[in-house]
Amino acid sequence: MSSVSTTPLHPSGFVVQVHASIMEVMNDPAAMAELKQQWMHSPVMIFRRQSLDEPDLVRFTEYFGRCETSGRKDIQSPYQEQIIYFSTLKYNDGRFVGGFAGGEDVDWHSDQTFQVRPATGAILYGTEVPRDGGDIYWADQFGAWDLLPEDVKTLIDGRTGVYRYAKRYAMMNATELRDKAKANAMLSLPDARHPVVLTHPHTGRKALYADQTTLVEIEGLTPEQNERILPLLFATGGDPSLVYRHKVHNGDLMMWDNGCLLHRRDVMKIEQPRLMKRTTFRLSPAEHCVPHA
Ligand SMILES: [Fe+2]
Repeated sequence: MSSVSTTPLHPSGFVVQVHASIMEVMNDPAAMAELKQQWMHSPVMIFRRQSLDEPDLVRFTEYFGRCETSGRKDIQSPYQEQIIYFSTLKYNDGRFVGGFAGGEDVDWHSDQTFQVRPATGAILYGTEVPRDGGDIYWADQFGAWDLLPEDVKTLIDGRTGVYRYAKRYAMMNATELRDKAKANAMLSLPDARHPVVLTHPHTGRKALYADQTTLVEIEGLTPEQNERILPLLFATGGDPSLVYRHKVHNGDLMMWDNGCLLHRRDVMKIEQPRLMKRTTFRLSPAEHCVPHA
């Protein structure tokens, strides 16, 4: 393979479908290099009809960044510690195999923003996808920055936000964390502080980093300013012009950069089987918008 063929799935080009077999690309260093380059410009990449086992999924992930081992032991793969499951399936003892088993929708957010050092790379691989519902949406946060009024840009650029897990816990359904001890540990996490605007190291483009599920205030603004500005940032982040909606099929592998995107998911049918496999990985600040140096 000499080049990787892609098709844009949104007019701005922030989402592309990659027409390639991941197993073949992994054996072609030139194609892998091309893919990494493309990802800097198109932070959502979708590969359809892939067939990867768990070690291959981790191996593919590690081309893009150091794969994290999840702290969520309750939804971890029993075979591969870097993989967590989202699933409606159950083990013999009645426990759900993975998280988000209830099927509720998940509102706009960015992963791990409540962590002091978020890992912003994410891959979600659908091995068994419900036929109805469960569409996934991404919103381009470079575009969100561009949409903001100039006075708001001036007010927030260079400032630090306070990101708190307790806000997410209160907003999202409690089934997200059924294990009370784990929930209490998460709720006692210290606040994380990140820039509310991130800059891409190659293109210089700015991205809004305002996760409505965790961002509680922007330091240096008055309470009145925060009250006015935060809802505006959250609404702009999900502006329909910035959104791509994806109908997920079995075998879809979706890779995205949480440093410059929001994502959400529709409600799902819980009586239909679902098994999604997720890896999370740490991106290089030399190549991506990351909320810490
Ligand atoms: Fe997420």
